[in-house]
Amino acid sequence: MIYSVLLVGVGLASQASAACSRAMLQEAAATYIRAQAAGQSNLLTLDNNNISYMENDTPMDIKKGVLSQPITIDFNRSLHDTTECITSTELSAATNKNPYVINTRILFTDGKISAIQSVVADTGDWAFNAAGQLSWTKKEKWDPIPEGKRDSRAVIKAAGDAYLDSWGDGTVKVPYGTPCARLEGGMYTGDKSPTTNTCKMPEFPKPFKITNRRYVIDEEGGGVAIFNDFPFIDKTKPNGTSSTNTLRVEGGMIRYIHEITVCATKNCGR
Ligand SMILES: *[C@@H]1O[C@H](CO)[C@@H](O)[C@H](O)[C@H]1NC(C)=O
Ligand SMILES: *[C@@H]1O[C@H](CO)[C@@H](O)[C@H](O)[C@H]1NC(C)=O
Ligand SMILES: *[C@@H]1O[C@H](CO)[C@@H](O)[C@H](O)[C@H]1NC(C)=O
Repeated sequence: MIYSVLLVGVGLASQASAACSRAMLQEAAATYIRAQAAGQSNLLTLDNNNISYMENDTPMDIKKGVLSQPITIDFNRSLHDTTECITSTELSAATNKNPYVINTRILFTDGKISAIQSVVADTGDWAFNAAGQLSWTKKEKWDPIPEGKRDSRAVIKAAGDAYLDSWGDGTVKVPYGTPCARLEGGMYTGDKSPTTNTCKMPEFPKPFKITNRRYVIDEEGGGVAIFNDFPFIDKTKPNGTSSTNTLRVEGGMIRYIHEITVCATKNCGR
């Protein structure tokens, strides 16, 4: 009996995961973390030595990027998009000699890693404070959402898009939860009022539109990472600077938001 149940389980799993299983994405994220900790990008290029690699929207040689230096990683959290076959991992490296907060998308094509896109923030980037980021992110709960309570991809994506759209148009209705807290660089909105929604953003001067949105949507993980170009904040980047917003969504409502934004000049000149 148990045996046949197991067989059925294996059959379903391999059918559903012909293109991309959660286990494969979890393994990729674990390998990425090991590679970054060791400074060995070659751990990621075993199956494909022609991976397209970008840091902060700039294509570069993976061997010359941040992945070539060993980094002490204090905390990590990943989302896995089994439909699109993409994983994203947020790394907090506060105790590293040069502190970093990094968010990385790893994309697969035909079961092999085909592209890696990182947003790499360190001192001088928007509200950067790796120790603050680490202490707040560790306190948050991003547990898997039990089956039956999971939001659809559409609901999760809509919550993320509504949040970003509201920055340019204050009339957009955003499904903020109560509480909702935003971790922006190392700055936490929820410390002042941990029981209310402190996520609401003011409108930016028009015209304002966040473009180049690239999503990692995870129903089981209960969240979405949106890699994007954030205009206005950095005067030297009128079309937008590299940024990620990672949202925890529970029952259609936003619980947490993490923003990492890169600046060309110290704190985007602000
Ligand atoms: C490497 O990948 C790019 C596309 O990302 C492709 O244009 C190029 O031909 C590939 N090079 C090799 C040697 O396969
Ligand atoms: C990454 O996070 C997992 C828990 O989600 C943990 O087991 C692992 O040790 C972490 N890795 C590093 C290098 O911090
Ligand atoms: C911004 O985008 C416009 C339109 O795509 C382009 O013409 C312009 O060169 C871009 N500016 C910068 C600084 O990249």
